[in-house]
Amino acid sequence: MDKAKIRELIAQMTLEEKAGLCSGADFWHTKAVERLGVPASMVSDGPHGLRKQDQEADHLGVNDSIKAVCFPAASATAASFDKALIEKMGEAVGDSCQHEKLSVVLGPAVNIKRSPLCGRNFEYFSEDPYLTGKMAAAFIHGVQSKNVGVSIKHFAANSQEHRRMSSSSDADERTLREIYFPGFEIPVKEEQPWTVMCSYNRVNGVFASENHWLLTEVLRDEWGFEGYVMSDWGAVSDRVKGVEAGLDLEMPSSGGYNDRKIVEAVRAGKLDEKYVDLAVERILNIVFRYTENAKPETPWDMEADHLLAADIAADCMVLLKNEDGVLPLSREDEVAFIGEFAAKPRFQGGGSSHINCFKTTSALEAAEGLKVIYARGYSIETDEATDEMIAEAVAAAKKAKTAVVFAGLPDVYESEGYDRSHMRMPECQNALIEAVAAANPNTVVVLHNGSPVEMPWIGCVKGVVEAYLGGQAVGLATVRVLYGDVNPSGRLPETFPKKLSDNPSYLFYGGEGNVTEYREGVFVGYRYYDKKEAEVLFPFGHGLSYTSFAFSDLKLDKTEMDDTDTLNVSVRVKNTGSRAGKTVVQLYVCDKQSTPIRPIRELKGFEKTALEPGEEKEVRFTLDKRAFAYWNTEIHDWHVETGEFFIEIGASSRDIILAETVTVRSTVELPRRYDENSIFMDLLADPKAKEKLRPMLEAMAKAFAPSDNAGEAAQEAISEEMNAAMLNYMPLRSMVSFGSATGEQIEQIIAELNR
Ligand code: BGC
Repeated sequence: MDKAKIRELIAQMTLEEKAGLCSGADFWHTKAVERLGVPASMVSDGPHGLRKQDQEADHLGVNDSIKAVCFPAASATAASFDKALIEKMGEAVGDSCQHEKLSVVLGPAVNIKRSPLCGRNFEYFSEDPYLTGKMAAAFIHGVQSKNVGVSIKHFAANSQEHRRMSSSSDADERTLREIYFPGFEIPVKEEQPWTVMCSYNRVNGVFASENHWLLTEVLRDEWGFEGYVMSDWGAVSDRVKGVEAGLDLEMPSSGGYNDRKIVEAVRAGKLDEKYVDLAVERILNIVFRYTENAKPETPWDMEADHLLAADIAADCMVLLKNEDGVLPLSREDEVAFIGEFAAKPRFQGGGSSHINCFKTTSALEAAEGLKVIYARGYSIETDEATDEMIAEAVAAAKKAKTAVVFAGLPDVYESEGYDRSHMRMPECQNALIEAVAAANPNTVVVLHNGSPVEMPWIGCVKGVVEAYLGGQAVGLATVRVLYGDVNPSGRLPETFPKKLSDNPSYLFYGGEGNVTEYREGVFVGYRYYDKKEAEVLFPFGHGLSYTSFAFSDLKLDKTEMDDTDTLNVSVRVKNTGSRAGKTVVQLYVCDKQSTPIRPIRELKGFEKTALEPGEEKEVRFTLDKRAFAYWNTEIHDWHVETGEFFIEIGASSRDIILAETVTVRSTVELPRRYDENSIFMDLLADPKAKEKLRPMLEAMAKAFAPSDNAGEAAQEAISEEMNAAMLNYMPLRSMVSFGSATGEQIEQIIAELNR
């Protein structure tokens, strides 16, 4: 329905009807206005599959949802670094939404993995904003190509579960812009998601649900968002403020309480009715966009989606370690699968994204017909390994050529609603791995977890496969990777620190009371570890393969450019091994020298590419201003500082293989304002100021220089360089104290410079 018609409809509504439309009818529906032919529409969690509940169901998952297909969670899909793959997953989710008459799937969740402790890390993509934004955009593209919408969530800075409904995420402007916003900004600008979900928390003291700056100035005015904003479930504090701030739909419902507040505020002249009209218009645009494109006849082939989920999961797995080529396994050899996760894999997390799978495939089931023996190793339920269990596991390990321990985090360790208090795996599993590794030198660990874990046993095992939370078909995918039917090609979307206290947010994570200060600023994840030259367990971007790749011929189409130009980059990549495989070409940009304090390098491009043995391909990237820019808080905009930048191609943030240099010139002159406290260092960096100050500077230098007849000791005490260095930090006003200028002269210079 076009905008004019929707406005006509709104003009016929009573204030009560309009206020009513600004909140849900129940947990999952928007309201209908039957007399005007306005239909209700349904939304549902996700995002890695559907969690569609009936009317009476509560959203915490106690009541069952319909049978559906659980794809890998975002922690896993991010590791694929494969935009086309996640777009395919989005298409499948979109089809299932059409089939189930859902207008919007609630996701993707794009909050940054600030600390390994966040309970919802398994639902989030990465510690890196660019990777997060690009993967989310690809998923959204897939879903929305089916004419159903997404709700990208949780906007914004919702990187902890601790006190999630009251806590304020206090971060400076640059940190928000560079780290916590791009996961939203990239998809909003590229894909125009139908809806955005605001987060529970406050941002710098103001609830996201009533944050005008966030919901209107940044999201709509700057990024051009056109859809509607809904609240996270129960995130509304002051509904009237929310309407004015740009929160269109309150979810689920306040039983009419907040609707009445809206009506009262309008009647009392405290809220302009135009804000209510605007919210209704935005909601109805989407409601009608869905109803006019609804295709409930769309088939939903769950078996086909199960196989797709397996294909996706296999391409997400990260081979972290593979000493002596312990993997892939041979079908001829006897292998021990050890650990209850081999029979009952952990493949999804707890909370609102929890899916009622129509089936699952464990590794043990997938290995049917292979020479596999199984030992339970530990009990998931009691989180214990008895002596008998360990003894049985050791005996199995001794019998087999290779022992594969399936380990990771049980459900209770990570979930929506609370955070972890440490990043260790269950003690019983660590003990089991050590016992098995002592019994069989060819021990491999497969990990099921949504966030980094400590690996005290890393030196005792030959192989580690990070499966993340790989969805209901994870067992099938794992067996394919273990036996080499699929060559692993995942890359870590986050750094694995050696221990929790190495993490940059460690000192501040969780905050004090209801305030969490994001004091590490832009130094999140590898941005911190790389700058600190800190040792990590596995770096961002790391991942091995059963074949090998060589990168060569990095070419830039220019060596100098303005920040308004684009830079075309190409690099050749060759499969130098004997198996087909996929690799990820990672492009980082490094500001060689910069006035603002910046990370060493930042990911600004990535491409996954498949290569047959011996095959070589060219991979291309185009970089624009944003690839070189930082957020400048003086101009409140992205800014590139003139200078040289390395364009780097790497196999991880710690393994840079090729680099070339480009000089980028800024086309924006930063405003320079001076006053009597401006220091010489800054003044002298400005040619105009330098020229004006020259006569006084000469007088000043003389005043400070040791006199010609001063003794040698005095000459040594203050050399010319020392003088110059000291002068650097002196303010303009000091010229008056040292007799090099009068106060009036200084005032005049300042006035002239600021003109
Ligand atoms: C979660 C959202 C979810 C919503 C609806 C909230 O508790 O934070 O991610 O979409 O519930 O289930």
